[in-house]
Amino acid sequence: MHLPDFKVARSSTKIDYNKINYKLDSKYLNKYKGKKCFLKTYGCQMNEHDSENIKGILELLGFDFTDNIEDADLVLLNTCSIRENAHNKAFGLLGRAKHIKESKRDLMIGLCGCMAQEEIVVNTIMAKYPFVNFVIGTHNFYQLPEILEVSEYKQQIEVYSREGDLIESLPVDRSSKYKAYVNIIYGCDKFCTYCIVPYTRGRQRSREKEDILKEVDNLIKDGYKEVTLLGQNVNAYGKDLYDNYSLAELLEDVAKTNIPRIRFMTSHPWDFTDEMIEVIAKYPNIMPSIHLPVQSGSDRILKLMGRRYTKEKYLTLFHKMKEMIPNCAISTDIIVGFPGETEEDFEETLKLVKECKYDNAYTFIYSPRVGTPAAKLTSNVTKEEKEQRLYKLNEIVNTYFKENNDKLVGKTVPVLVEGISDKKNEYFGYSDTNKLINFTGEDVEIGSIVNVEITTAKTWSLDGKVSK
Ligand code: 5AD
Ligand code: SF4
Repeated sequence: MHLPDFKVARSSTKIDYNKINYKLDSKYLNKYKGKKCFLKTYGCQMNEHDSENIKGILELLGFDFTDNIEDADLVLLNTCSIRENAHNKAFGLLGRAKHIKESKRDLMIGLCGCMAQEEIVVNTIMAKYPFVNFVIGTHNFYQLPEILEVSEYKQQIEVYSREGDLIESLPVDRSSKYKAYVNIIYGCDKFCTYCIVPYTRGRQRSREKEDILKEVDNLIKDGYKEVTLLGQNVNAYGKDLYDNYSLAELLEDVAKTNIPRIRFMTSHPWDFTDEMIEVIAKYPNIMPSIHLPVQSGSDRILKLMGRRYTKEKYLTLFHKMKEMIPNCAISTDIIVGFPGETEEDFEETLKLVKECKYDNAYTFIYSPRVGTPAAKLTSNVTKEEKEQRLYKLNEIVNTYFKENNDKLVGKTVPVLVEGISDKKNEYFGYSDTNKLINFTGEDVEIGSIVNVEITTAKTWSLDGKVSK
């Protein structure tokens, strides 16, 4: 048994890790033939991609997948810790699984992902959720076959607080045939004061560039049109591995593979260099769409958040991107109600939003996470004030989504066709700037990139028709 420990996770000493090529012990192959798994994923793209790997492993074990929890022999929750409501949802589903297990005694129930890394969660599971067969951490989910085997008889808690080896060649069942996630860096060293990610995902570890490029080459051979390079802070790529190879060089090398579309997320403004902007501007297959979380527009709050930039520095970077990258769409994340945020601080955020006119924004009420430094700060912002601020912020960001979309009416944009909408004869896909486009056309091939003339703009999507 290994239990999570935030003190260990917080430790700043770098550890050596090995690169290991995953190989399933043949004794597990098809061991669970005929069994069904209900896999529920919460949270970010990293978790979605982990679930693609988990699916790949479970398929080798012989599992089929079901969307109906009542049909499952294994219920597996890949969880998220970023805000309290993600916790509540996962515990809600565990309650449902418990109910099903009362009349289906051999149902296996497991929890993996970020919540598994939290002491408070694991303690609760051990004390109050004896029906959960296993908890497995983010650093060792590839040990699923071994843990599944022994957890039939006794609850297993296998969570490592320090990042382990970097595992290559994991099996994967991707959810799309055209768009793929490719991890480039795991973990985060930024330790923003509100954020639990450095504790649940560990210290920054970059994948070797050769492994990334090989994965992209294989995706091209398999007909993929788009890769999203993933990391909690992709701009830190390479810092732990190379002297002179950063996200700028990696983006350039990936662009040279000629894969039609490259995206990357998430970016931290502090690590965003001019070279990166130049490369994005230079290669047409790097999409002009950047997710650049600002979190707050108040210097005082940014400092308390440990974000390492001022409003002015952020705006300089923002405007440089807009100037240097043609038609660049920028999206952001914003937190309201951080401890001590005054009405003036919030007004600063609104002022920044009015200047940036974001193409998209994910807005959140601050949620204290046990073990993070900000959780110790006292807050004088009431629940009502937080809700009012979020409401006001959303009203303003929404007007800019629409305003930006309006500018596209009459223009033609390239769209990667992902499927047919519920309405017949309508297709949908995403533009170069990552906007959802619903459109009409004849004999449109799913998975191709077509030019679409925009006819109508809405707040969160656009309508159009294939241009001749
Ligand atoms: N409370 C609210 N929002 C948070 N985020 C991260 N931690 C918290 C928290 N404790 C938001 C940030 C981040 C996004 C992924 O989630 O805006 O960029
Ligand atoms: Fe969390 Fe992102 Fe800050 Fe890392 S950079 S601590 S993932 S908010």
